[in-house]
Order: sequence, then C-alpha cells, then structure tokens
Amino acid sequence: MSFAVAIDGPAAAGKGTISKAVAAHFGFAHLDTGLLYRAVGAKVRDGAEPVAAAQTLQPQDLEAGDLRTPQVADYASKVAVIPEVRAALVDFQRAFAARAGGAVLDGRDIGTVICPDAQAKLFVTASAECRAERRFKELTGNGIEVTLEGVLADVIARDTRDRERAEAPMVAAEDAVLIDTSDLTIEAAVNQAIAVINAAR
Ligand code: C5P
Repeated sequence: MSFAVAIDGPAAAGKGTISKAVAAHFGFAHLDTGLLYRAVGAKVRDGAEPVAAAQTLQPQDLEAGDLRTPQVADYASKVAVIPEVRAALVDFQRAFAARAGGAVLDGRDIGTVICPDAQAKLFVTASAECRAERRFKELTGNGIEVTLEGVLADVIARDTRDRERAEAPMVAAEDAVLIDTSDLTIEAAVNQAIAVINAAR
C-alpha cells in the first residue's frame, strides 16, 4: 500500500531534518525534491539549457558534490520558475510518492501540485532570521565561507522568488498542518510531525 507524506516550506525551516527523521521512524523512503532543482541548476551553471537539463536528468546527477552551495541554490530557484522545467520533473516525483511501503517528499509544491492527495501534509516554517542562522551554521560547518547577513539576504530573495512565481508557487495546502520550528527543538518538531502522520494512518 502506498502512503505519501508531503512536507513543504521555505528554505532552512527544518524540512529536510524532519523529513529524514520521519522517514526513518516509519520506514518510508525519502525524496528531497529540492535536489532535483539543484541538480538542474548546477547543469545550467555549467552551460546547459534549463529545459533540456531537466528532461535528461539522471539519478546520478543528484549525487553531484556541490549541490548544497548557495550558488547552486540560487540557480535552482531560478530554473524552478520555468514551467517546462517543473513539468519535466513531475512524473519522477509522483512515481516516488506512489512507492509501496510509503514515501516522504519534501519541497515547495508537494502538497499542492505533486501529491494533492497525500495522506499527510505538513507546512514547516520558521522566521527568516532563525532560518538564516541555521543555514549559516550548516554552511560554515561544511567549510563554505558565508556571512550571516549574506545568508539572510539569500534566504529572503529565494523565498520571495519561490512564493511569487506563477507556476506552483510555495504555499501551504489548505489541508496542511503548520509547524513553526522557530522555538522548537529538532526533537519537538519531529514529534509533532510524527503525531500528524500517526493521526492520518
Ligand atoms: O529545498 P531546497 O532549498 O534544496 O530547494 C532549492 C530550490 O528549488 C528552492 O528554492 C525552489 O526554488 C526549488 N524547489 C521547488 N520546488 C520543490 C523543491 C525545490 O521549486 N518542490
């Protein structure tokens, strides 16, 4: 039986951490859909045409080493406004969501566009300042040189682009449960997510 969990929200709100923990808890597969857009973004940075890059994306492209950099994130959110790029990535995401044994997908449009019938939907947010601080720690921890001000500006620019685009904008589905992680520990946020999913099972 398939069981899909949709986890959407802005950059660095804790979606990834919550998704991984929830997937491990329930034994579900996990797809970080941002990686698809990052992989297309990295190809475009290297000279590819966006739509062709999305249409020919290969699983091994998701393992490229530098997909987590702010530069690639910026390219990702720019290619993500192109309807043909988004369309090229739909089937893969829907097939993943339909896997037997359950799936967690995190992104921006999972509960609204990719899996409108997901059994459980979460929208994970936090203040821009909180998110910038977390992303700053993560990036500097990985040896990437950034400033807190720069990360905050990037986060706000990317949120605005994701929220205001015409195609599949970032928005909470009407039936999504909101989790604001600004003042929550990781453990508390994960427990809230698990409770929402248990209630849907
Ligand atoms: O989640 P992550 O920060 O890795 O996503 C990178 C970018 O990919 C986002 O800023 C957004 O523009 C795009 N994205 C999207 N739809 C998704 C996942 C990511 O448009 N489902």
